[in-house]
Amino acid sequence: MDISDPSLRPENIFPRCKESPYGISFYQYYLETTSTNDRAKECARAGLPEIGLVVAERQTAGRGRMGRRWISELGGGLWVSILLRPQLSVGQASVLSLAAGVAVYRALKSLYRLDGLSLKWPNDILLSGAKLAGILTEMGSSPEGVNWAVVGIGINVVRTCNAWDRVATPPAFLSEQVGSRVERGSMLLQILEEFGRRYRTADLSPVLAEYVQCCDTLGKDVVCSTRNGTVEGKAVGIDGSGALLVRVRGSEKVIALDAQAVSLRG
Ligand code: BTN
Repeated sequence: MDISDPSLRPENIFPRCKESPYGISFYQYYLETTSTNDRAKECARAGLPEIGLVVAERQTAGRGRMGRRWISELGGGLWVSILLRPQLSVGQASVLSLAAGVAVYRALKSLYRLDGLSLKWPNDILLSGAKLAGILTEMGSSPEGVNWAVVGIGINVVRTCNAWDRVATPPAFLSEQVGSRVERGSMLLQILEEFGRRYRTADLSPVLAEYVQCCDTLGKDVVCSTRNGTVEGKAVGIDGSGALLVRVRGSEKVIALDAQAVSLRG
């Protein structure tokens, strides 16, 4: 097994993490695991503190939103989950995902100055319209609020296998735009810094305002698959819980669509 970029190995990343202002409490590194979200959820249930990182070189059962598979081959990208213990109500928690989307978008922009990078609601990162990165947030809660949240981030770096030919959404790969400049350790640290800065602010409204600035979906015509059928209309805003506000085609009605229940086309 040749891992040509060793920057995620603990001995390489850990000294650099400690320098970060958003210091982490633990770092778990796997050559292979089912899903880093699974491992991070185990850490959450075992009572480990925030901010914890779980990284894998390969996931055998990587998961995406809406029960989709996430291809995560060896050397193919950055697969990381962040364990958080946010002081949020369940209703506020989806803003975490939006904050992570903005953080990944900003980190990739500042590291690689990519043209054609965009953020699609809720938190797909697209490169020239093809999917470069995605975020899967899972959480555990009680009536008092969120106990833990796991923010799983996947960023495609190298096209590694033929399975990509069969995915419905066309994928993008960082190395095809920026070549050998991709070092996943720097990417991880930059994301951590961008995310940490936003996560630490008690007030969530700046995150929402920034998200609205970055999100390419707003103002566009969209087709949304929901549990109750398809909705077509124009994306006109984001509400305080991160739901997408859509003005339904042919009416003045505006509906709020929750990211957990909606898949977006267009
Ligand atoms: C999506 O866009 O559908 C979300 C993809 C999230 C993939 C990441 S990779 C690290 C973490 N572990 C997983 O199994 N999924 C997330």
